[in-house]
Amino acid sequence: MKQLYDRYDRLHNYIRVSITDRCPLRCVYCMPKEGLPFFPSDRVLSQDEIVQMVQNFAEMGVSKVRFTGGEPLLRTDVAEIISRVHDIPEIDDISVTTNGLYLARKAEALKEAGLDRLNISLDTFKADRYKKITRGGNIKQVLKGIEVASKLGFMIKLNVVVIKNQNDDEILDFLNYTRDHNVNIRFIEFMPIGNSKEVWKKEYVGLKSVFDVCQENGIEYQPITLRGNGPSENFKIKDATGSFGLIHPISNKFCETCNRLRITPDGYVKACLYWGEEINIRKAIPDKPEFQRLIQQALDNKPLNHEMALTDADKVINKAPTWRHMSQIGG
Ligand code: GTP
Ligand code: 5AD
Ligand code: SF4
Repeated sequence: MKQLYDRYDRLHNYIRVSITDRCPLRCVYCMPKEGLPFFPSDRVLSQDEIVQMVQNFAEMGVSKVRFTGGEPLLRTDVAEIISRVHDIPEIDDISVTTNGLYLARKAEALKEAGLDRLNISLDTFKADRYKKITRGGNIKQVLKGIEVASKLGFMIKLNVVVIKNQNDDEILDFLNYTRDHNVNIRFIEFMPIGNSKEVWKKEYVGLKSVFDVCQENGIEYQPITLRGNGPSENFKIKDATGSFGLIHPISNKFCETCNRLRITPDGYVKACLYWGEEINIRKAIPDKPEFQRLIQQALDNKPLNHEMALTDADKVINKAPTWRHMSQIGG
């Protein structure tokens, strides 16, 4: 079977498919304060296009699919999409990244569709902070969603983007949460995508601070391996039920092992999150040879590394490598 390699010999078997740019929240690290104009619905890939596209990828060696957004659960056909992708024999791992607001209502349908793991954004345990970070969200809805999904047996990871002076004083609370909750807490470094250079520089926190918190509090942990296709490095506190992970694209980049391609809601392939080049693959979905050619072209131009380095932040961020905000890429 054909397999997807880039020019640095990295095998690509994982796609992150953003199925909508819409989201009811405007998280401070993800969207501008004033929000974004959402794409008209005909600009967004249809259910049939998404399923056919994943089928094409499956024939090119892809076996892992993550659905992202915006907020993917806003799509009324999300369970149907998952169910149809679940029926593609080559696909052995399907997951969703969600803000969790609609989970309480949708978790059961997702489970029936064949989904068994969820990554949920939750940057704080405090209701007032949650409202501020998400610009209006109600944390109770997310906590309810997590509870319902846990009861249904989903494997749950909680995504915590660490932001200076907003939630970096909660690292210990999140670590302690893993002691008696069967979740994986993932601390994530704030990335300068769609944000102004000034905001990012002020609010970025390197994840060495997580180890510092462990040390200050005498917390012992050890590395573990955990199911997942992304860049998280995982650890477990001694005797804890859950675990924690670190995603550190800035302080310690993981591009060397990159295995993923992104598809935007409007049908472009992005070979790297931090990369301006994108190729429209929408029209080629029904034409497998052309589709393969375009995907290989994206891979042939894929950079070895992203350029979010702190050292030359001024230079790099001024280049504005992509016009897209995170919510239009899917993280
Ligand atoms: P699993 O490991 O399969 O659970 O998924 P994941 O961690 O890849 O997915 P998720 O959507 O939860 O992403 C978590 C964080 O990792 C988000 O902030 C993403 O933007 C970030 N991330 C995922 N892949 C990449 C990548 O290739 N490059 C960079 N810089 N960040 C990434
Ligand atoms: N930096 C790091 N992570 C981000 N996410 C969204 N924007 C950013 C950013 N600027 C995360 C969200 C979500 C995932 C898809 O990406 O927390 O969990
Ligand atoms: Fe929406 Fe997720 Fe972006 Fe927050 S991080 S605005 S929940 S897409």
